[in-house]
Amino acid sequence: MSGQIKSVSDDQKYIIKSIMQLCGVDRFDADVTYGNGVFWKDLPEPKYAFDIDPQMTGVVQASSVQLPVADAAFRSMMFDPPFLTYIKSGREHGSIMGKRFSGYWTYAELENHYRATLKESARCLRKGGVLVVKCQDIIHNHTMHPTHINIAQWMQPWFRLKDLFVLTVKHRLPMPSKEGEAARKQKHARVYHSYFMVLEKL
Ligand SMILES: C[S@@+](CC[C@H](N)C(=O)[O-])C[C@H]1O[C@@H](n2cnc3c(N)ncnc32)[C@H](O)[C@@H]1O
Repeated sequence: MSGQIKSVSDDQKYIIKSIMQLCGVDRFDADVTYGNGVFWKDLPEPKYAFDIDPQMTGVVQASSVQLPVADAAFRSMMFDPPFLTYIKSGREHGSIMGKRFSGYWTYAELENHYRATLKESARCLRKGGVLVVKCQDIIHNHTMHPTHINIAQWMQPWFRLKDLFVLTVKHRLPMPSKEGEAARKQKHARVYHSYFMVLEKL
């Protein structure tokens, strides 16, 4: 990477690589929501991969809220949880198992998972270790849920915010229905960015 590292990019790999460079991480110790491992396509694989619903071989089935590791086992962890609420399609159609953990019914459900994982990550990390959290703010039913601000509160008293990166998207799929009508009645800006929060264990 040439030049100074910037806090905004539309390239997820650039952001993860930048975080690794700034935190002196050659390889993450653990990814606790491994999914399909897209994060690590062109980057070193984490030493331990966990997911509540593993899709790939070698991923250990475990919830991010109760990891099968000793206290202070890790120096670096990645947490990329679902961030959308009310993903009904997965439960109503198609593979229930495949989609069961891909979203939350309510924001309270999201909050419980995020809070419990922050607490569990604090247990698993050494002092000075880093937890990277990918998240996105949500507007639902005309209510803004500023998840990245909430995480800055939920992480207390275990972490401090070390860095904050913004990942922008160039294009998003149109709203599922009544696009024209929705545009006329639009009350909130459509969210075109997500965050990578770098939390340092105190
Ligand atoms: C946004 S995806 C992660 C994508 C991943 N970063 C990648 O590169 O493919 C969210 C993942 O969180 C997992 N998940 C949801 N709830 C979980 C929990 N309680 N513990 C661990 N993993 C969970 C889902 O199974 C899903 O694979």
